[in-house]
Order: sequence, then structure tokens, then C-alpha cells
Amino acid sequence: MQKTQQLYEGKAKKVYATDEAGVYIVSYKDDATAFNGLKKGTIEHKGSINNRVSNHLMQLLEKEGIPTHFLKELSDRETAVRKVRIIPLEVIVRNIAAGSLATRLGLEEGTKLRCTVLEFCYKRDDLGDPLVNEYHIKALGLALDEELAQLSAYSLKINDILGSYLRDLGIELVDFKLEFGITDEGKLILADEISPDTCRFWDTKTGKKLDKDRFRRDLGSVEEAYQEVLFRLMGIN
Ligand code: TMP
Repeated sequence: MQKTQQLYEGKAKKVYATDEAGVYIVSYKDDATAFNGLKKGTIEHKGSINNRVSNHLMQLLEKEGIPTHFLKELSDRETAVRKVRIIPLEVIVRNIAAGSLATRLGLEEGTKLRCTVLEFCYKRDDLGDPLVNEYHIKALGLALDEELAQLSAYSLKINDILGSYLRDLGIELVDFKLEFGITDEGKLILADEISPDTCRFWDTKTGKKLDKDRFRRDLGSVEEAYQEVLFRLMGIN
């Protein structure tokens, strides 16, 4: 399989068309941004770690019945994925109050939520990805009712699968962000990535942050934390 043209360059990944119908290649970058691109930096080896972490978790989800874009890991930082049209929503799943939820609702970070919270943000960098509800999504035509119902059900199931898988590895899944897409055949599947860039992972015992908050908040040992997540997934101690 050959890349034909670069279709898109985002903050953390590039996406290429290929000579195979219905197949794209994603290439993970070491670039890191936060606060909608205001803070910029590099996290050494992030691209290859996120590529491997995301592929590992997507394959786990596939086994558990969640359709994903994953096809084949091609190299350290490149993966072949199913071509999709991305639904312009960030789906955020929260188990413990942290980040923007803690700020918005005046909760202390670490407060256990009484039930899982699903949030939707409209993917619009120029607007700072604003929070939207089901009515906004319908009014703006961002997703069909059936698509919204399906992606919400998938998101909750993904939370159950990943939550218990990670707990066994000593990682608490605090919250995370998902993106879904529609294939040329009209099927809704999980796309984008699941990595320390897009999740909050706290060490179950110590509470140590093993995710991008170390970069966002200048906590240090960023690379080591990403590496730690990969090692735990791979069963390396
Ligand atoms: P938040 O608390 O900043 O709203 O973040 C919630 C979760 O979503 C957290 O796990 C990090 C992830 N996230 C992204 O993946 N991309 C983003 O642009 C933002 C703001 C958050």
C-alpha cells in the first residue's frame, strides 16, 4: 500500500489517502498542543507511543464487538485505517470529576461522579470546540438521531470495557474523548485515537497522572508517563 496524498494535518496526526480504496494512513506526530493550540511543545516518542497504545486499545475494543477504524499497524508511527467521514463531535466520557468539568461545576478534582457523564463538543477549533447538547446537535444537523443514539451506546460500552481492562493494570480511567466516523458503506465506527493525549489515566494506587495533563500543567516526566502507560498495556514492568 502506498500513500498518495496528504489529506489533512492536525495538531497530533497527519492523514493520507492511499492507492487502496477505502483505506487511509494516519501518521502520529510528536507535537503536543494544549488549550486549543495556545501551548505548544514536543513530547519525545509520543507519536510512536500513541500509535501503539491506540492500536492496542482499538483491537481490544474490536474483540469486544465495537467496530473501529483500525486495520493494520504499518510502522512505529503509521497505521492503516478505514476511511471515514468524521462526525464533527468530540464525545467525552467522564467517571471522575477533572479538568473542565471540575472547573465548570465547582467540583474538586477526583470527586467520583454518581453516574457516568457523557458530553458532546462541536469540533470547531475556531470556536474552541464548544459544549453542545442533543438539541444543538439536531438543530445544526451534526449527527442524525440514530447516529447519536448509536455513538452514545458505543461510548458507554467502551467506557465499561476500557475501565475494567485498565483497572486490572493499575490505571483508573478518569475521563476520555472519542470521535466517530461514517464509512463509505454508511457504517458508524470508532475513529481517531485513544491515547494518553485523549484520556485521563491516574495510577490507581498513587493517583499519579499518566497522561497529557503532565504537559498541560507542566508537571514534568511527560515522556516517562506516556511510556509507563505503554509498558503496562504490553505487560512490561
Ligand atoms: P476536559 O476536562 O479538558 O474537557 O477534557 C476531557 C477529556 O477529553 C480529557 O480526557 C482530555 C480529552 N480532550 C481531548 O482529547 N481533546 C481536547 O481537545 C480536550 C479539550 C480534551
